[in-house]
Amino acid sequence: MTLQSFIGNTPLVELKTLDVPAGVRIFAKVEYMNPGGSIKDRMVSYIVDDAERRGILKPGATIVENTSGNTGAAIAVIAATHGYRAILTLPDKVSKEKQDALRAMGAEVVVCPTSAPPHTSDHYVTRALRIHAETPNSFMLNQYDNPLNAEAHFHSTGPEIWAALGPSVTAFVASGSTGGTISGTSRFLKLKNPAVRSVLLDPVGSIYHRYFHDGVVDSSQIAPYFVEGAGEDHLAKCMDFSAVDDVLQFTDADAFDTCRHLAQREGLICGGTSGANVWGAVQVAHTMTEPATIVTVLPDSGNKYISKIYNPGWLAEHGFTSGEDRVPEPTP
Ligand SMILES: Cc1ncc(COP(=O)(O)O)c(C=O)c1O
Repeated sequence: MTLQSFIGNTPLVELKTLDVPAGVRIFAKVEYMNPGGSIKDRMVSYIVDDAERRGILKPGATIVENTSGNTGAAIAVIAATHGYRAILTLPDKVSKEKQDALRAMGAEVVVCPTSAPPHTSDHYVTRALRIHAETPNSFMLNQYDNPLNAEAHFHSTGPEIWAALGPSVTAFVASGSTGGTISGTSRFLKLKNPAVRSVLLDPVGSIYHRYFHDGVVDSSQIAPYFVEGAGEDHLAKCMDFSAVDDVLQFTDADAFDTCRHLAQREGLICGGTSGANVWGAVQVAHTMTEPATIVTVLPDSGNKYISKIYNPGWLAEHGFTSGEDRVPEPTP
């Protein structure tokens, strides 16, 4: 069995300790169980397979990509196992653990300022495009605008959820960056049952919420936030709003509080977007008037953020509660 053959078919866990109305169940796919440690393995392996089949990705090639780290990890795994070179551009807000893990797997990492505005030469997307243009025999997945990204979820995440829960699925909830997860999974679930509700979670500071509700990209909304991997400062072509029924905003505190709950009460040590996704699933649960099954994903592991989300000093420094009081004292 190759490492790649273990991508997908991740565990689907029912979360039992959340504050939801009676009759509403929440399930989460544990995507950090993928070999590269995140949901991004799905689309990277799908796009690389496609490119190899079509002869676009040739032996000895260099894979170049802009990434918040998880796509980079997935690329680094595939590059290591298939003999490619990997050059990855990252915004500097990406945690040190993630940057170091990429280097450990032999990838070359180019760190760019998070504050660089989109389309300027220092922005991590522009840097990746330039490196791609200047590197012979290089291949870019182009995860933001590549329809195969969403297609990967249409052919894996969606069918896996349907195979496990079938017509009981009421809603799918996920944060989005490229939009691959929400678009592809929602498209598949809606194909099976058009009544399935799809809800995108967007961090305060990202453009998607305003764009969905008012149809405008409002750059005055762009603001820094700490959650890594969700939200955008530009519209990704992969984000298919025709497959989305609603967009809810979350704050870093919503995400981080829920992360600690998941770690301390469910035994799931997750990254910030997992906290956001589960927080969103709970919000959606409270809108349900009948028994419902809400599904979400836990895109990556909290082990990548020990120095931040799970570090009381870092939390206090940035004005977040450390949440130690969330776990009740055992009764004598
Ligand atoms: C941790 C994490 N969560 C969620 C997402 C969003 O997934 P998608 O790009 O499929 O919208 C990403 C994407 O980078 C991510 O790294």
